[in-house]
Amino acid sequence: MAGGYDATYAAWRANPEGWWSARAAAIDWEVPPRAAFDPTLGVYGRWFPGGRLNTCFNALDRHVAAGLGDRPALIWDSAMTGRVETLSYAQLTDRVARLAGALAARGVARGDRVIVYMPMVPEAVIAMLACARLGAIHSVVFGGFAAAELASRIADAQPKAIVSASCGLEPGRIVPYKPLLDAAIALSPHKPAFCLILQRPERVCDLAPGRDEDLRAAEDAAEPHPCVPVEATDPLYILYTSGTTGRPKGIVRDNGGHAVALANSMAMLYGAGAGDVFWAASDVGWVVGHSYIVYGPLLAGCTTIVYEGKPVGTPDAGAFWRVCGQHGVKAMFTAPTAIRAIKREDPEGRLMARHDLARLEALFLAGERCDPDTVLWAETLLRRPVIDHWWQTETGWAITGNFRGLGLFPTRPGSGGKPSPGYDLRVLDEAGREVPRGTIGDLVVKLPLPPSCVPTLWNNDQGFRDAYLSQHPGHYTTADAGMIDEDGYVWVMSRTDDIINVAGHRLSTGAMEEVLAAHPDVAECAVVGVKDALKGQVPLGLVVLKAGVTKDEKTLEAELVAMVRDRIGPVAAFRTARVVPRLPKTRSGKVLRATIRKIADGQDYTVPPTIDDPASLEEIKSVVAPAGPPLRAPGP
Ligand code: COA
Ligand code: AMP
Repeated sequence: MAGGYDATYAAWRANPEGWWSARAAAIDWEVPPRAAFDPTLGVYGRWFPGGRLNTCFNALDRHVAAGLGDRPALIWDSAMTGRVETLSYAQLTDRVARLAGALAARGVARGDRVIVYMPMVPEAVIAMLACARLGAIHSVVFGGFAAAELASRIADAQPKAIVSASCGLEPGRIVPYKPLLDAAIALSPHKPAFCLILQRPERVCDLAPGRDEDLRAAEDAAEPHPCVPVEATDPLYILYTSGTTGRPKGIVRDNGGHAVALANSMAMLYGAGAGDVFWAASDVGWVVGHSYIVYGPLLAGCTTIVYEGKPVGTPDAGAFWRVCGQHGVKAMFTAPTAIRAIKREDPEGRLMARHDLARLEALFLAGERCDPDTVLWAETLLRRPVIDHWWQTETGWAITGNFRGLGLFPTRPGSGGKPSPGYDLRVLDEAGREVPRGTIGDLVVKLPLPPSCVPTLWNNDQGFRDAYLSQHPGHYTTADAGMIDEDGYVWVMSRTDDIINVAGHRLSTGAMEEVLAAHPDVAECAVVGVKDALKGQVPLGLVVLKAGVTKDEKTLEAELVAMVRDRIGPVAAFRTARVVPRLPKTRSGKVLRATIRKIADGQDYTVPPTIDDPASLEEIKSVVAPAGPPLRAPGP
């Protein structure tokens, strides 16, 4: 790509629609768009109206048609089972077309929803692409979520079908998916017409007669289905993400804008193109998995890796470097927490040194704020650029980063880089005024958002406006606080809502509070995210008991932990609950969560002037941070 970062950003700014029109040439359109952007459509405008395309065609068939069918498209590397399997572009296309045929034969058509609840196996990717092929809308649910979370997504998306597996594999245990799926379907008022289940040899499951069928048998028996062209503005998928309440938000992704933005990002940001091996060590249940295990690499003709394993313990902290060496990974992407886990077990990089990393050119990190130590550790040992970049489920690709395709600028550990061309990023104060450089405020994007970003929430335009567009009119609220420094580097500091990031997993403390509040002994509760050296943050629950309850605290904690695990899932990593006599509140009754978090983190804090009773903070302190800093007098 010609031009450095500054020139490219300036070129986008000077003519955003022209700039994106040029990028749209990387996509094969059945009917080219009549415009790059139409501000009169949708909630804030829509990208590439009038365009018709099929995302699966762009990810698979066109590469086969170009004679690249023998190239590896997908490598499944399962550290959990020791298996490695490669599917060429031709093989992957055939499997996707057949599964699409199987879904279509059972009634799935354009616009229908299909929920995919799968572990990290090729069939997860095949199912997503099969939906895309039909113009059906997939909604992948992360395997670490419990039945109730799956049920709420089934209820909201109303899928015609669910594609799942008999089990997932976690270190030391098999996770039977089928009982979770059955429980979720029983809980949901909406029932799917049918389910296709991948039988894994590690734990085969019973199939419900009349509802469940064996996925491989259905796929093998089906006729390949051709790609169904859809409108650029039609949804490709819905991905539910944690919001500020227990009800997850259905982030909608369109077909056209998504394909254009992701294809562009592969070259501009990651410096990866056809024939390169690209590995995002994430899960298909998260946005990183959607964008950079599935769509981005395949749109660009890369080889993608589907890794079933962990950064440590499968079998050791050299696992990631083994995968990079064995498959010739050129660019890798993971969450900082994974690197912290590796660093903890292999601080000198002895396991890293055992693997041939000659082809690895850069490591990308995102999903949570990355501490500078972790960046520096990885940079020192890898002797390659380690690039922190900031993005969200809502955007689908990086809001800020450092751009290999444009020539890297010097990194600043702790900063997420500079705004991606396409994003007009601003920092506003509470009154909506832009703050001077170097001042922390609300990070917002001036509308319109670039292609691939959320156009609305599933069946909920008003919810979209309320959650993202109402706080600062004319801008998208990222719900992250941070600053832009004198040199244009962006520093993302914290969320402004009750979302926490646990081991790179986005979770809502509000959802956890709803679970704790349902315990019969709990009168009131608060959940805050406290600092954790490995996972970045972990949830801490504070509960006030109903009058007369005398239950032993350890028993109560065990019950609360089990409830969160059962209703939200093990991934919430909820392990600590403490009983407190009361919660610190403002005089208007708002729980002072930010102050509680500071106390639990051992940070300095001021007593908010609006507090109802300062003694309530002392009580919290004695429970969660006995060695915390002294109280300071209320501010003016
Ligand atoms: N299916 C079922 N259970 C799952 C799961 C899945 N797909 N993923 C995680 N879990 C379970 C784990 O088994 C664990 O259960 P446990 O409480 O019984 O031990 C629990 O959820 C918490 O898992 P996790 O957060 O992965 O913690 P961990 O202690 O097992 O591992 C790390 C710590 C750092 C190794 C791990 O969190 C990790 O690899 N993080 C990277 C995350 C990442 O890539 N995020 C992508 C965002 S870009
Ligand atoms: P998710 O939607 O799961 O991708 O989570 C998005 C949130 O994770 C963001 O709003 C940030 O709070 C946080 N996040 C992601 N990447 C970064 C990063 N590079 N630096 C700081 N925070 C990040």
